[in-house]
Amino acid sequence: MKMYERAKKVFPPAAGRSTTLGITKAEGCYVYDESEKKYLDFASGVAVNNLGNCYPSVVEAIQKELQQMIHVGHNVVYYPSYIKLAEKLVELTGGDTMVYFSNSGAEANEGAIKLAKYVTRRPAVIAFKNSFHGRTMATVSITGSNSAYRKYYEPLMPSVYWAEYANCYRCPFGKEKGCCDMACLKQFDGIFEKLVDPECVAAIIVEPIQGEGGYIVPPDAFLKGLRKICNQHGILLIFDEVQTGVGRTGSLYASETFDVKPDIFRETLIKSSH
Ligand SMILES: Cc1ncc(COP(=O)(O)O)c(C=O)c1O
Repeated sequence: MKMYERAKKVFPPAAGRSTTLGITKAEGCYVYDESEKKYLDFASGVAVNNLGNCYPSVVEAIQKELQQMIHVGHNVVYYPSYIKLAEKLVELTGGDTMVYFSNSGAEANEGAIKLAKYVTRRPAVIAFKNSFHGRTMATVSITGSNSAYRKYYEPLMPSVYWAEYANCYRCPFGKEKGCCDMACLKQFDGIFEKLVDPECVAAIIVEPIQGEGGYIVPPDAFLKGLRKICNQHGILLIFDEVQTGVGRTGSLYASETFDVKPDIFRETLIKSSH
């Protein structure tokens, strides 16, 4: 029986897959199915497997770590690789950052929202339409790409407000690039006047390039403008770099590519004083 048929019996329909492929081997950018047919792996672990599968030095590092310890619990003790990686990330992100490791993108975004609320003591979060931030309760609340993610799970986290993303190709404000007067930034005047006072907003969370929303690259002025709005009102700027981080836009983080420093970013949360 094919893996797909076996899986149907033991996994609930909610845990669906976008293909019925059963993969038995993966090497670099190729995966092989049950009949050894070779496929070019465009999924790349959903945009996170930057070096492909089984990259030798990565495999070696994992093996070495497993020989030393498997799980000692970072909330119980400290251990060398845990500290070394955090030190490296701080060094690579300017030296004024701090790191929190979590298990997934969704958990990182949960942590980012909690951190923003805790630091600011404010209740509200502004997210963007067509965004994807995860499948947990809080991250579904700030995900605007598909109603299926939230169907039957409401009520979700309250005090989430929605903004339009900067899409110059299909401008949500019906404007033309270059003569739009940055309506995507101006919209915040209306949000703050009609919907939520900026003093009540803990964070604006944004993908520097919107992934699931259609791989939308915003104009340079957009992220810089968000930074300015956040500075003006004491709002924390969160970059969800689950899809853009670790070299995918040319720099280590999209924050470098766009030259905008967020307060909290990526699936390893890194908080900076800006
Ligand atoms: C931009 C973005 N944020 C968050 C997530 C959620 O990450 P995870 O599936 O690791 O929870 C994803 C997953 O695809 C993502 O693309």
